[in-house]
Amino acid sequence: MYKNPKVTVVGAGFVGSTAAQRIVEKQLADVVLIDIVEGLPQGKALDMMQSAATEGFDTKIIGTNDYKDTANSDVVVITAGIARKPGMSRDDLIATNAKIVGGVVENIAPHSPNAIIIVVSNPLDAMTWLAFKKSGFPAQRVFGMAGVLDSSRYARFIAEELNCSIKDVRPMVLGGHGDSMVPVPHYSTVNGIPITQLISAERIEAINARTRTGGAEIVGLLKTGSAYYAPSASTVAMVEAILLNSNRVLPVCAYLQGEYGVQDLYCGVPVALGKDGIQKIFEIELNETDLKALQKSANDVQELIAKLTVLA
Ligand code: APR
Repeated sequence: MYKNPKVTVVGAGFVGSTAAQRIVEKQLADVVLIDIVEGLPQGKALDMMQSAATEGFDTKIIGTNDYKDTANSDVVVITAGIARKPGMSRDDLIATNAKIVGGVVENIAPHSPNAIIIVVSNPLDAMTWLAFKKSGFPAQRVFGMAGVLDSSRYARFIAEELNCSIKDVRPMVLGGHGDSMVPVPHYSTVNGIPITQLISAERIEAINARTRTGGAEIVGLLKTGSAYYAPSASTVAMVEAILLNSNRVLPVCAYLQGEYGVQDLYCGVPVALGKDGIQKIFEIELNETDLKALQKSANDVQELIAKLTVLA
């Protein structure tokens, strides 16, 4: 009998529950939503199932607090942790979220030894590195969601600037998911036309700056939490690429072993995503400025990871 793929979403908060909703509504997989808070994932799952008749999906979602229910997941999305408040950087979350993400991975790995893990909890690059080390999984199956989100923010600002359809914008943002992320204008195009030919250098710099602080802008407005609509959409784009084995080329927080001059670190680079996870890492040609910026961003990740080692 045909069985739907199984996706576990850890953390039934804003990002996790919205990601779960998008996955079942798109009928990509059956979903297990798990959280440490009793009743929360069960209540949200029940509520989502009761939207199935209206939305017209046959995929199932259950809520649980028991990792046994996550057994044999194909993909595990980790959103557990605390979100930032105004004035906080993603890096300020490290001590709390390292404990949470480390514990989650220890529970997930034995129940789903063949799963692909997508980390969403912040600070993203350091949490993904931690998940890699704690799981013992091959790096091909452990990676983080950031570049898709940062690029989708970049795309929105480019479309707004040019008053053009977002469908024609192909954005590229590399590097860590922090203030030193690297929007790459000459690889960001509107239907193949580099934005450097369409937007002034001054405006591009302003758009790059807004992209780098795109998450903080939303935190400042929300005051009690951080973004979740675009983060969940970006996560589900990655889940979809894996489950459909589509080999989409997306910027993903991937384990680098010498690519771009970066060693034993997680950082956002273009990869092909498919059924085995990261099918290929693309080492594209960058100009000196962008390569330096990418390496600086990787250094920032390295500093954060050093804090993790102290924490461990
Ligand atoms: N195991 C499982 N779930 C946990 C654990 C744990 N050990 N610790 C916390 N959680 C759950 C919380 O109970 C909560 O339901 O994680 C959820 C987090 O949800 P929110 O507070 O709504 O945060 P959210 O906006 O979803 O962000 C989650 O994603 O984008 C990142 O920076 C963001 O690190 C944050 C994460």
